[in-house]
Amino acid sequence: METEKRIVLTGFMGVGKSTVARFLASLLDSTRIDLDTFIELNEKQTIAEIIKSRGEARFRQIETENLRRILTANEARIIALGGGAWTIKENRGLIREQQLTTVWLESTFDHCWRNIRMSKRERPLAINKELTQKLFDERAKLYCLADWHFIIKPDLTSFEVAKKIAEEVFSIDFD
Ligand code: S3P
Repeated sequence: METEKRIVLTGFMGVGKSTVARFLASLLDSTRIDLDTFIELNEKQTIAEIIKSRGEARFRQIETENLRRILTANEARIIALGGGAWTIKENRGLIREQQLTTVWLESTFDHCWRNIRMSKRERPLAINKELTQKLFDERAKLYCLADWHFIIKPDLTSFEVAKKIAEEVFSIDFD
């Protein structure tokens, strides 16, 4: 078992990064952290409030500062990113520099959009279906740069996805 490996989970809004990270942490008996939650605790504002009151550009700076802190001063082995974090070149550089393994959770736009609509969490960058689809299409080529790629089929539970990651990325044999 590759116990020392640290990973980041990336993928579009609504794909289920945080839930998969939670299951993965429990399967690996390991620590995890959610970048957005970490930011909210440090800034004492929700991500939606930060974006709405200070703008996306400032949010991205805060996101990078907090990612750097997690990567260098926090020992969590599983890091769930917000959907935009991996699309920023500087963030990808930081992640690579620290030699983390990167995992893209990919799904269809419809699946993500359904989850975005159903979620209680406010996502100011998912403005409407058309603009969100545009963002989804633009980002695919950047998510593609991740080391691993798992396709999230709608009939697969988050637990099953986490198990697959544990088996394939961490070489864990559950049998
Ligand atoms: C964002 C995704 C959100 C959050 C912020 C911006 C994005 O996280 O970081 O609203 O740019 O895709 P989730 O992917 O967890 O929704």
